Amino acid sequence: MSNKIALVTGGSRGLGKNMALQLAAKGLDVVITYNSRKDEAEEVVKAIQSVGQKAAAIQLDASKSGVYDDFYNRLKPVLKETFGTSTFDYLVNNAGFGIHKSIEETTEEDFVQLTHIHLMAPFFLSQKALPLLNDNGGIVNISSGLARFSFPGYAAYGALKGGVETLTRYLAKEFGGRGIRANVVAPGAIETDFGGAAVRNNPELKQQLASLTALGRVGQADDLGGVVAFLCSDDSKWVNGQRIEVAGGIFL
Ligand SMILES: NC(=O)c1ccc[n+]([C@@H]2O[C@H](COP(=O)([O-])OP(=O)(O)OC[C@H]3O[C@@H](n4cnc5c(N)ncnc54)[C@H](OP(=O)(O)O)[C@@H]3O)[C@@H](O)[C@H]2O)c1
Repeated sequence: MSNKIALVTGGSRGLGKNMALQLAAKGLDVVITYNSRKDEAEEVVKAIQSVGQKAAAIQLDASKSGVYDDFYNRLKPVLKETFGTSTFDYLVNNAGFGIHKSIEETTEEDFVQLTHIHLMAPFFLSQKALPLLNDNGGIVNISSGLARFSFPGYAAYGALKGGVETLTRYLAKEFGGRGIRANVVAPGAIETDFGGAAVRNNPELKQQLASLTALGRVGQADDLGGVVAFLCSDDSKWVNGQRIEVAGGIFL
């Protein structure tokens, strides 16, 4: 039987990279997307190949509209050439960037960009994946703890992550007839490049977040990938339409 294939957006760095590596460790083949960091994406591809799985990287800029048909048109030959198939099994909508501004400071342009990457991309990548997704596959969206609790400066981002959580339940409802599950993972504060690497580079913020967390530290990318790999496997075959917060117990 051929391996299951997962497509992870934003797999060149941070959480998406760890997801891709942990999916490969579980025996899946992986397609990642990157926006600008082609070299880093190619390193991830090599790392996946080194554990015996197939992998490929494709460019995707999800900060603007009208890119999804072109993206899937470029994916199709890659599926054929690299993986010997025309379909895949799991879509992980992870790619994202942050804009840290108060409501007063946020511009319409900021809001539009965030909407494209955090809500339109998961919506239309999922919609347009349908003809390519195998029955009994799945979708994993990436939200944020900031959809449940509020930190000044994340109003637009948090509101859109709330939107992706609602979208996830609708995906689960509408795609369930084909056995396609949809779940959403909400990370807490993780030390990645996200948001200018604020969690990693600001010791005061890091200490504050650690002290608010039951497990007493901020997260690492490695805390996340295994949860996504679990959701992209039959181990979670009865988990559907759920939000799983992966945050060490912050603001309990
Ligand atoms: N880190 C946290 O504390 C945290 C907490 C909660 C939720 N999240 C969410 O987790 C997800 C991943 O974040 P991360 O921490 O891994 O961030 P990251 O380390 O900054 O990585 C971002 C990834 O998204 C890609 N990307 C950036 N802009 C893009 C665009 N316009 N179109 C398509 N892809 C783009 C990047 O590609 P390039 O490498 O090519 O630039 C990279 O692969 C995001 O949805 C974020 O909102 C993060």
